[in-house]
Amino acid sequence: MMNTENTTPSESAEGALPVTSPSDGMETPKPFMRTIKSFIRRAGRTTAGQAKAFEVLGPQYLVPYQTTLLDLHAPFASNAATPEEAAAQAARPTVLEIGFGMGEATAHIATVLPDTNFLCCEVHEPGVGALLKRIGENGITNIRICAHDAVEVIDHMLPLASLDGVHIFFPDPWHKTKHNKRRLIQAGLVAKLVARLKPGGYLHCATDWQPYAEQILEVLTAEPMLRNRALLSHPQLDGYAPKPLYRPLTKFENRGIRLGHGVWDVVFERV
Ligand SMILES: C[S@@+](CC[C@H](N)C(=O)[O-])C[C@H]1O[C@@H](n2cnc3c(N)ncnc32)[C@H](O)[C@@H]1O
Repeated sequence: MMNTENTTPSESAEGALPVTSPSDGMETPKPFMRTIKSFIRRAGRTTAGQAKAFEVLGPQYLVPYQTTLLDLHAPFASNAATPEEAAAQAARPTVLEIGFGMGEATAHIATVLPDTNFLCCEVHEPGVGALLKRIGENGITNIRICAHDAVEVIDHMLPLASLDGVHIFFPDPWHKTKHNKRRLIQAGLVAKLVARLKPGGYLHCATDWQPYAEQILEVLTAEPMLRNRALLSHPQLDGYAPKPLYRPLTKFENRGIRLGHGVWDVVFERV
């Protein structure tokens, strides 16, 4: 059962049992336990352009990982030239993105939704460099990047009921049954995300791997604090959502479509 105060320990996405401090509702992982991560750190070359983007844009656009709560609007306030702009900035909705890869969709969405702030987590360093480069090339101001494991960011940095949305696009499918436990979207992580969503806030997942799509639909449907937006507008459908307009078809997705692969969008909202 979901607990909006986030005081009930539940299985975390990485398969570890977190300990919750009753004073602040945040979870402190036991130091000795083994954690199963949803990623492996891939080798990858950071290009000269990405390295330059790290150097020039990193100080403004990277949010360092910390083990204390973050004021979600503070990292975005650096864009504000006047107190009025800062106030307008503080009123903007905030969306968390987990695992943006090379940032193609992220940069597009931030451009089509300029009045939304995006806090984006990714552990793949060349991907972080690539998104910083896109930010520079396109003059994007409403993205900030935390180059760290999103599960730890959620546990330690994100206040309860602080998010207006969460994007998880094409999370690693971990095809082999013995690796399924590494999948990001599991009941424990969903409970943590729901606790950090405001009422009415949404969780949008997309995948091209049908068994994972079925798992996502099942896990989100089982979460009592979520309801399926697709079924609100299309009760006759199977629970999958039409692709929301803001999510672009990336090169990767277009290639899959050409090869005849399906893509499933799942959009739920917090009650
Ligand atoms: C298959 S890629 C998809 C990338 C992108 N969303 C897209 O649609 O192209 C999944 C990404 O999630 C990242 N990832 C997986 N688990 C993560 C975690 N716990 N925190 C941050 N990033 C994570 C991986 O490094 C990888 O880049």
